[in-house]
Amino acid sequence: MSEVTQYSRRGAVAVISIDSPPVNGLGHAVREAVLRCLESALGDDEVAAVVIHGGGRMFSAGADIKEFGTDLVLLPPTLRDLIDAAENAGKPVVAAIHGVAAGGGCEFALGCHYRIAAADARIGLPEVTLGIIPGAGGTQRLPRIIGVPAALDFIVQGKLNPAAKAYEVGLVDELFEGDAADAGVAYAEKLIAAGRGPRRTRERNERVEAARGKKEIFEQYREGSSKKARGLEAPLAAIESIENATNLTFDEGMEAEREIFARCVASEQSQAMRHAFFAERQVAKIPDVPKDTATRDIAKVGVVGCGTMGQGIAMAFANAGIPVKVLEVSQDALDAGLDKIAKTYDSSVAKGRLSPEDGKRFLSSIAGTLDFGDFADVDLVVEAVFEDLALKTEIFGKLDAVCKEGAILATNTSTLDINKIAATTSRPGDVIGLHFFSPAHIMRLLEIVRGDATEKDVVATSLALAKQLRKTGVLVGVCEGFVGNRMLLPYLREAYFVLEEGALPQQVDKAICDFGFPMGPFTMLDMAGLTVGYLIRKHQAATRPENERYSDIEDRIVEMDRLGQKTGSGWYKYEPGNRTPVPDPDIEKLVVETSEKLGIERREFSDQEIIERCLYPLVNEGAKLLEEGIALRSSDIDVVWLYGYGFPRFRGGPMFWADLIGTKTIYDKLVEFETVHGELMKPAALLARLAEEGKGFSDL
Ligand code: 3HC
Ligand code: NAI
Repeated sequence: MSEVTQYSRRGAVAVISIDSPPVNGLGHAVREAVLRCLESALGDDEVAAVVIHGGGRMFSAGADIKEFGTDLVLLPPTLRDLIDAAENAGKPVVAAIHGVAAGGGCEFALGCHYRIAAADARIGLPEVTLGIIPGAGGTQRLPRIIGVPAALDFIVQGKLNPAAKAYEVGLVDELFEGDAADAGVAYAEKLIAAGRGPRRTRERNERVEAARGKKEIFEQYREGSSKKARGLEAPLAAIESIENATNLTFDEGMEAEREIFARCVASEQSQAMRHAFFAERQVAKIPDVPKDTATRDIAKVGVVGCGTMGQGIAMAFANAGIPVKVLEVSQDALDAGLDKIAKTYDSSVAKGRLSPEDGKRFLSSIAGTLDFGDFADVDLVVEAVFEDLALKTEIFGKLDAVCKEGAILATNTSTLDINKIAATTSRPGDVIGLHFFSPAHIMRLLEIVRGDATEKDVVATSLALAKQLRKTGVLVGVCEGFVGNRMLLPYLREAYFVLEEGALPQQVDKAICDFGFPMGPFTMLDMAGLTVGYLIRKHQAATRPENERYSDIEDRIVEMDRLGQKTGSGWYKYEPGNRTPVPDPDIEKLVVETSEKLGIERREFSDQEIIERCLYPLVNEGAKLLEEGIALRSSDIDVVWLYGYGFPRFRGGPMFWADLIGTKTIYDKLVEFETVHGELMKPAALLARLAEEGKGFSDL
C-alpha cells in the first residue's frame, strides 16, 4: 500500500491496484510502488497468483509523458524493469484491464502472463501519435502474442482499439463485465484451479518466426504508411522495430527497440507532437474561468440561417444528440437547406460512414421553422445568416425579444465585431461568438469568441459544448478574423506576392505541401471558393493605406468567373467530377503578365524561400495576437492551426515551429524582408523582444 497503489489479498490471489489519478500514468513513484507490491506478493507463500488492475477510470494511460527528456525516465525501476519483474514472476500474473490501457500501460499488460479486459475497454499503443515507438517492449511482445500483421496494424496506426478487437486478435484472453478486480480474481482462481502457471511472452516465438525473413510484409507496410503518414518518422521506426522482432532474439530486439525509441524521443517531430498533445489539453484551461464554474444546460438549440454554415452547424448538434430547430427567411430557402442536410446524411450513409439508423435519427432531430417564436424554449441559438452587421443586429433584436432568460445567443460571424452585436441586445453577457469552420459538422476547430461583456459561465458552457460536439474549442478575443483567419491573411498575401515575383501556383503549393500541410494555399482557396475572400478584400479596400502593396491577381481570377473547384476552375482547372487541381496555362500567363505590368523581373524561388516568405509573416501575426491578448497562449494558436488549417502536427503548430527555428532567426529574416518589401513585414514588438532576450513563445 502506498499513496499510488493499493494492495490486498483475496484468498490465494494478491490484488495490486494502481491508484494514481487521473490516468494511472506510470511515472517513477508509481513504478516503484507497483514493483514493491509485486515483490510482496511474490514473497508471500500464501499467494498463488497476482492480479494487477487500475483504480479509478482506467488501467493505465502509459508512461508519464512529462518525464520524457528528464532523468526520471531512466531512474530505476524503469518501466522495463517493472515489466520484466512481472514477466519473470514465478506465479501467474493477470492484468485486468478496464477503461484504457495505452502505451506503456498496454506494454505492462503484454508482459503479464494473462490479460482480461472489460468489454468496453480500449487498448492500444498510440506512441506513434507522439512521434515515438513503444519503448517498453511493445514492438517485441505484441507480435509474439498477436502475430506480425496484426501487430503492425496496432502499432503503426496507433489507435486505441475496442476490447472486442483486442480479444479477436488474441491480445486479451477473456472479456468481462463489471468490476476489474473481481473479474481478475475470478480469472486467477480459475488459473490456480487448472494448475496453469506463468506464460512468458518473451518465450512465445512461434508467431514471429512465422514472419522471419519475409521482407515483403514490411516493404508493403512501409509503402502504405509513407503515403498515409506523409513526412512522419515514427511509423517507419515502428515498422523497423517490429521487423527486428522477427529477425533478432528477444533480448537483441529489446536492445534495438531501446535505441530506436531514444532516437525518436529526441527528434523534433516527437517534441512537436508531445507539445500538441499537451496544447490540446491546455486549451480548455482559462485563468479566470475556473474548472468548477457552473455551466448552463444545453438541451435544445436553435440555428438561424440554413445556408452552408447553418446546415453544418445543425448537423454538428444533431450528431451530438442535441435536437435543433433551424430558422430561414422563406419556405423555399428552408426547404432547400433541409434538403441539402438530408442529402449530406444520405451520402454519408451511402459511403458507409454512417449507419442508416443513425442517419435517420440525426435527420429527424433537425426541424425547420420560419417563426422566431419557436425559439422561446431553446437554450442556445447560433446565428449563421449573411455576413452583414445590420442584418445580424436585426436578428439579435428578435432573439432578444423571444428567447428565454439565460439562453445563450451566439453568432458564427467570421469578421464582425461581437461587442457591437452584443451591445444591441438587453443581455450582452449572454452573447458570444461560436466560430465554426466549414464544413461545420466535420471540422474539429471551434473558435469561441469572448466579448467584453460575455459572462464567465457562458464561456465555460461554450467550452464544454465544444467537447460535447467532439470539437476542440479555443477561446479567443474580438478582432477582425479572430486568430485563425487573421493569421491566414498574411500567409495568403505573401503567397500572392511570391507569384508576382517569379513563382507559379503549383510551385508554391508543392513547397507548402512538402512542408507537411495537406494542401497548398491555392488548392485550398479553390476548394473553399474564391468569392468570400474577394468580398472581404473589397470591404477592406476602404481602409487599406494607399501606398500599401496589394496583389489583385485573385480578384482578376474571380472577375473571370473562375470561382474555384465548384465552378470547374479557379487557380487551377478541374476535369468534371475530379477534384485534382490541374495547372492552367491561362493562369500562368496571367501571373507572368502581372509581373510584367508591375515591372517586376521574375526570378527563381527555392522551396525554403517560399516557406519563409509565407510562414514567417504568419508567425509574426501570431506574435501580434499574443501582444494584443487576443490569444491567451502561443499553444492555443498552435491548436487553432493544427485543427483549423492542417498545420502539420509533426511541427507542433506555427508558434512551436517558430521556437524550434528560433525567434532570433525569424526576427532577423523579417527585418531583411522589411527592408526589401516594406512595412507589411515589420516584426512584431513581442517577436523583437523574444529575439533579443534569446527566448521563445513557449517561455511567455
Ligand atoms: N502522461 C502524462 N500525462 C497524461 C498522460 C500520460 N501518458 N495521459 C494523460 N495525461 C494527462 C493529460 O495531460 C490530462 O492532464 P490535465 O488534466 O492536466 O490536462 C489528464 O492526464 C487527463 O487526460 P485526458 O484529458 O486526455 O483524459 P481523457 O479521459 O480524455 O483521455 C486517455 C484518457 C485516452 C488515456 C488520454 O489521456 C490519452 O490518450 N493519453 C495518452 C495515451 C498515450 O499516448 N500513451 C502513451 C504514452 S508514451 C509511452 O507509454 C511510452 C512507452 O512506450 C515507453
Ligand atoms: P450562406 O449565404 O451560405 O447562408 C446564409 C443563409 O442565411 C442563407 O440561407 C439565407 O437565406 C439565410 N438568411 C439570410 N437572412 C436571413 C434571415 N433574416 N433569417 C433567416 N435566415 C436568413 O452563408 P454562409 O457561408 O453559411 O455564412 C453564414 C455566416 O457564417 C456568415 O456570418 C459567415 O461569415 C460565417 N462563416 C462562414 C464560413 C464559410 O466558410 N462559409 C466559415 C465560418 C463562418
